[in-house]
Amino acid sequence: MEYPKECILDEPLIFDSHAHLDDAKFDSIRDELIPAMSGCGVMGIITCGCDINSSKAALMLAEKYDFIYAAVGIHPQEISKGENADEIKALCSHKKCVAIGEIGLDYYWEKDKAEEQKELFKKQIIIAKELDLPIIVHDRDAHEDTLNILKAYKPKGVVHCFSGSVEMAKEILKLGMYIGIGGVITFKNAKKLPDVAQIVPDDKLLIETDCPYLAPEPYRGRLCHSGYIPLTAAKLAEIRGVSAEDILKLTAKNAKTLFAIE
Ligand code: NI
Repeated sequence: MEYPKECILDEPLIFDSHAHLDDAKFDSIRDELIPAMSGCGVMGIITCGCDINSSKAALMLAEKYDFIYAAVGIHPQEISKGENADEIKALCSHKKCVAIGEIGLDYYWEKDKAEEQKELFKKQIIIAKELDLPIIVHDRDAHEDTLNILKAYKPKGVVHCFSGSVEMAKEILKLGMYIGIGGVITFKNAKKLPDVAQIVPDDKLLIETDCPYLAPEPYRGRLCHSGYIPLTAAKLAEIRGVSAEDILKLTAKNAKTLFAIE
């Protein structure tokens, strides 16, 4: 297991608002990795489901570890499975389920199923609103339709791994939603993201990994986990003119507020 030494913190300050701890890439190290993270500065992780099975797996991890919380949902990339959102609704009654996600639109992978994606996205938003849960939104190459749906339904939640423009970020913020920023901010080709990172108010910023993917520099391409977040926090701190510790503290506070965690 690779744990970057410079990311080990004395205090638990890290709240990763978006992970996929059930991913098969963690299978051989999961039982070692999760307790290690908790000893190295990670205070909380939201692990997100992508279909019915991975949502159940997220709940099982949340049951097993105090500092792990689950989001349940059907990801747009899984649209072809034809799964029923009502099954997601049933999973929401679990006491460690804190959100519906990840849900949204993906026109990079499944553009030919845009209509089905929109229907499933709306259906899951309606469930979230009924249950008063926040949503975790995936938007890849689908900015306009994502924004239109969010404007129409006005759910609470976060647009994770934000990849839109500053203008779009402002629209999302107007809706009272949060902006999630991850390791991409450390990449040299993160064109618009530094400008977005500058304008998000302190109380609307979330930090995340989307692990096992998107490890921050200088570890780009490596198997990522929540322990890498101090590198993302350092970059955000540089952009926003504060300390990395400030970024970790405010993003942890925001995650607890949005996901109603004590
Ligand atoms: Ni994700």
